[in-house]
Amino acid sequence: MGARMGGLGVLAGIAALAALGAGQTAVVAAPGDPGTPRYQAGSDGIGDDYFPLTGNGGIDVTHYDLELRYTPPDPAPAPREGTLEATATLDLTPTQDLHQFNLDLRGLTATSVRVGRKPMAFSQVENELVVTPRPKLKTGRAVEVVVEYGGTTIRPTDIEGALYGWVTTRDGAIVVSEPDGSATWFPVNDHPRDKATYSFDITVPDGLVAVANGDLVGERSAGGWTTWSWDAPDQMAAYLATASVGNFELREYAAPNGLPIIDAIDRDLPATADDGLTQQGEMIVFFESLFGPYPFTSYGAIVDDDSVGYALETQTRPVYSRVANEGTVAHELAHQWFGNAVSPHRWQDIWLNEGWATYDSWLWTEHDGGSTAQARFNAVMNRPATSSFWNLEIADPGPFGLFAGAVYDRGAATLHALRVKIGDEAFFETAREWVTRYDDSTATTEDFEALAEEISGQDLDAFFDVWLHTPTKPTSW
Ligand code: TRP
Ligand code: ZN
Repeated sequence: MGARMGGLGVLAGIAALAALGAGQTAVVAAPGDPGTPRYQAGSDGIGDDYFPLTGNGGIDVTHYDLELRYTPPDPAPAPREGTLEATATLDLTPTQDLHQFNLDLRGLTATSVRVGRKPMAFSQVENELVVTPRPKLKTGRAVEVVVEYGGTTIRPTDIEGALYGWVTTRDGAIVVSEPDGSATWFPVNDHPRDKATYSFDITVPDGLVAVANGDLVGERSAGGWTTWSWDAPDQMAAYLATASVGNFELREYAAPNGLPIIDAIDRDLPATADDGLTQQGEMIVFFESLFGPYPFTSYGAIVDDDSVGYALETQTRPVYSRVANEGTVAHELAHQWFGNAVSPHRWQDIWLNEGWATYDSWLWTEHDGGSTAQARFNAVMNRPATSSFWNLEIADPGPFGLFAGAVYDRGAATLHALRVKIGDEAFFETAREWVTRYDDSTATTEDFEALAEEISGQDLDAFFDVWLHTPTKPTSW
């Protein structure tokens, strides 16, 4: 809600005041003509409890067009630093009347900001790019915001010390930005709640390949540089964007259902590094049979010879560090439905990503003739009640618990227990309806609990309490 109260401003304001209890204060808009703008500064965060400064208030970015020119590090030894020179063009719709708005930008310097063709005043304070648009912006009236920026690229880390964002490598970059690392490579409303479409033109020295999300729409060389153009036409959370650069071989083929696949495999890796990718097409067909159509226009893997120590489900094109194992490949593919098509509304909802992706890789392994989901569940439940593994509320793991083992394995066990409780029919209908109802959007744990109750017709409060909201080992449910 904005501060605009329209023609009923005074009366509604009095009613609102009357409804407040003692000790509370209210800000009531001054009476004015209907539609009179009340300009505000958009907030510096979108309102995520775990990461208060990620994302921004008052803006809805609908498209990012990213033109990046990247010079990888000199072959000399550390420090590994590259150079990025870029222009980001954002289609931005104000959701409030704004005299100021913020974008997230970390470690890079903006050199100009334009709205339309007009240069605007701006400043950078810590990881916030603050823009003062004149004329001011009115709710609902879309504008094009063009930011020229650049600087030295490093190897940024998240709050737990894991490499993320634009990670400079020996011969390029691994770009994996969960949860809030996108700001290390473009000005962004860096929260999954504000999804957008993306296009990329990434210019790198001839011989290197730049791989982003979606469809490869162009490759052209001039003057020793090659520009790789990618188009990602589906809604995407910022952390799922990538523009990884390396000595890649591109392999283009199709899944059995016709879906175009482009894998990018680092030429410097041993031949076995991509063994786990051979069944990607069958995995897509299998997950489609369980969860409905693959949600995007293409798929594929990026396997780099440098490492961030983990894989990420970057939309349509997951990134793997040095090796793509079959189980991890199934996990990152499952994220395309669970995490990417439907994303966490708050970072505290992360178990909906990791629990589902982990459970789905159990299902793939069983389908492929390996151990059963029941056996994997039993293995989790064999952990003694005294283990610190159980000492986590996975539906509220805290910002330092986002990628705790329990978020994955207890999350998967929760889903298996739910399946046993409500039966296969209701369980898989819940899964399909989840993806259908919240596709291109975000959802919360509460949304999931409500949907499972709606479809099963069962009261599942006690069940979810024990599995998701209690930091001890479930014993009965
Ligand atoms: N989302 C990744 C996955 O499970 C994991 C991930 C992202 C991660 N950032 C991390 C794991 C940092 C460990 C550390 O597919
Ligand atoms: Zn995952």
